[in-house]
Amino acid sequence: MIEEITAQALDTEKFIRDRVTEITDAVGDGIAINALSGGVDSSTVTMLGHRALGSRLRTVFIENGLMREGEPEGVVALFRQLGIAVEAVDARAEFFAALRGIADPEEKREAITQTFYRKVFGRLVKESGARFLLQGTILTDVDETVAGIKRQHNVFEQLGIDPQEAFGYHILEPLIQLRKDGVRKLGKALGLPAEVFDRIPFPGPALSARVIGAVTPERIETVRKATAVVERLLKSTGAFQFMAILHEDRVTGMRDGKRDFGQQIEVRCWESVDARVATPTRLPFTVLEQLAQEIIRDVSGVVSVTYNIAPKPPSTMEAV
Ligand code: XMP
Repeated sequence: MIEEITAQALDTEKFIRDRVTEITDAVGDGIAINALSGGVDSSTVTMLGHRALGSRLRTVFIENGLMREGEPEGVVALFRQLGIAVEAVDARAEFFAALRGIADPEEKREAITQTFYRKVFGRLVKESGARFLLQGTILTDVDETVAGIKRQHNVFEQLGIDPQEAFGYHILEPLIQLRKDGVRKLGKALGLPAEVFDRIPFPGPALSARVIGAVTPERIETVRKATAVVERLLKSTGAFQFMAILHEDRVTGMRDGKRDFGQQIEVRCWESVDARVATPTRLPFTVLEQLAQEIIRDVSGVVSVTYNIAPKPPSTMEAV
């Protein structure tokens, strides 16, 4: 049982001191490695890890082909400004190969997990001589995985999997007692800029969590373009999270006077404190209309745009 530290109860200075000591004690004079996606959790862990280990923490950005527009370059540039060198690793071919032909949500998550932890990280760990992977697992990830709702890509020990045995390295999870609101508070205390600690959450499986059915480079590109529109139009709402989802079913539409059996994008926008429960934002109809117009204009092949109005539960926030 992991003891929760709520955002209100979190004493950031003490938390940082305690975790820095733990990380330093565990790694000794060895090397650790961590994957930065640019999300709130991995960015916070990167700051914490560098506070503890300095240059003995090697930070990599795994380019899995599933990230949002401009994200790989943006994350590397931002952390360079914060004085942290991030190495980009191109693993696009490996991820798309692993996802080929998989439509089932849990199988998709498993394919990402295996590619990330066994193949890509296995190789990086071997090359670098690191024995520790530092990662930003939070309590909500553990809860949902243990409850069998979603296999979060980054949860192992609570499922009885020993990472040392399975992948050949130890995993350190300094944020595991926190939820998203606590991580934001900690990220701020560690010197992350607001554009990072206030960033909307983005899942580990990235855009593949937003493609229902088969994940291909083309379908990822479709959801990537729709995501850019949704993020641009909804960032001023202050909502907890917003996203575009590409559906598998096609529907009959019309374009230039002809039948067009086209694709469907679902928009979701969530009000939530900690992602455990959530309700759809009451967006004005004019905003919904603008979303439809701009998605249809910018994303070729889309003839239908819908807005999800079901709360979590029974919905979950991501579609996969
Ligand atoms: P769900 O879809 O489970 O999402 O209601 C709750 C929150 O968790 C994020 N999420 C993930 N984050 N790995 C992550 O790091 C995952 O596999 C994953 N799945 C969902 C989601 O974006 C939301 O904020």
